[in-house]
Amino acid sequence: MKASFGILPDGTQANLYTITGGGITATVTDFGAHLVSVLVPDRDGNVSDVVLGFDDANGYRTGNGGYLGATVGRNANRIKGASFMIDDVRIRLTPNEGENSLHSGPNGFHLRMWELVRQRENLVTLHLLSPQGDQGFPGKADIYVTYALEKGGQLKIIYDGVCDRDTVLNLTNHSYFNLAGQEKTDAAMGQELIIPGRFFNPDDAENIPTGELRSVEGTPMDFRIPKAIGRDINTPYEPLEFQGGYDHNWEVFCTPCAILRDPDSGREMAVSTDCPGIQFYAGNFLNETGKGGIPYGYRQGVALETQFYPDSVHHPEWPQPFVKAGQHYHSETTYKFSW
Ligand code: GLA
Repeated sequence: MKASFGILPDGTQANLYTITGGGITATVTDFGAHLVSVLVPDRDGNVSDVVLGFDDANGYRTGNGGYLGATVGRNANRIKGASFMIDDVRIRLTPNEGENSLHSGPNGFHLRMWELVRQRENLVTLHLLSPQGDQGFPGKADIYVTYALEKGGQLKIIYDGVCDRDTVLNLTNHSYFNLAGQEKTDAAMGQELIIPGRFFNPDDAENIPTGELRSVEGTPMDFRIPKAIGRDINTPYEPLEFQGGYDHNWEVFCTPCAILRDPDSGREMAVSTDCPGIQFYAGNFLNETGKGGIPYGYRQGVALETQFYPDSVHHPEWPQPFVKAGQHYHSETTYKFSW
């Protein structure tokens, strides 16, 4: 199903695509390839929208400093000094967080019009042509993102890409989840999280990894046994103090690499991915006016972003986000809902 999602200032019509399958319904817009809604039943069959977002494309265009539902690329997360090397050539991006690059700078993929290339009842595929030199990255890249709803409550997000020069491809989705329903704004910190990862990346005060991979053992970063997100978030612990709460990358240790649970509604979401890392961000700076005018504030939704480790372009010892000219980039993340 296709509906209008508003008209952009340049006159472009933005569209909203509805897909259904596996017991859930989702909507996706071609403006920024944002995931707009995910409707999931609770244990009594009451359906709620479990992701934060806006009512129309212009909400995503003007109000979305927090990247709600965004498809982030070419490179998700931060790059120190907004600069790095490919094949002995220095690549310079536009800094947009101090001296550093956050989510590839001011002209992110979430601010582009994507083109519909395929729609079925349970899936939609969007395409973006990222031109030569886009955001400072080498080469011209064809990027595809597919949202598919599959049996057993699975929302699959599939990324494909190919570039005509050696470049970086490291895409993610930046949805904020609130399994109680996006309108129950005070519920997120009471939800339980499991992250089996044994290590996380401590960051400096600018959110750039120090290079250390630190064991979670005995720290507030240990989510190997389920606990409410809010339980330890205010513990005096330098990585939490620097970032104002959880906003860190964990190793992806196994499948699933994270499970979020809302004890009240019975909804659960398990995250699986082929990516090496998962950034858990507790919405510490969230401040948007969202769907139906609902104010989303401090820690009222949580993001679980699968990706290469932040700033991995400067850490050859970590898994690397580089692709060769002509090489097929493919990555999949599944958010599996149950209730
Ligand atoms: C972006 C990042 C998050 C977090 C916030 C801080 O949204 O993706 O991980 O660092 O910025 O405002």
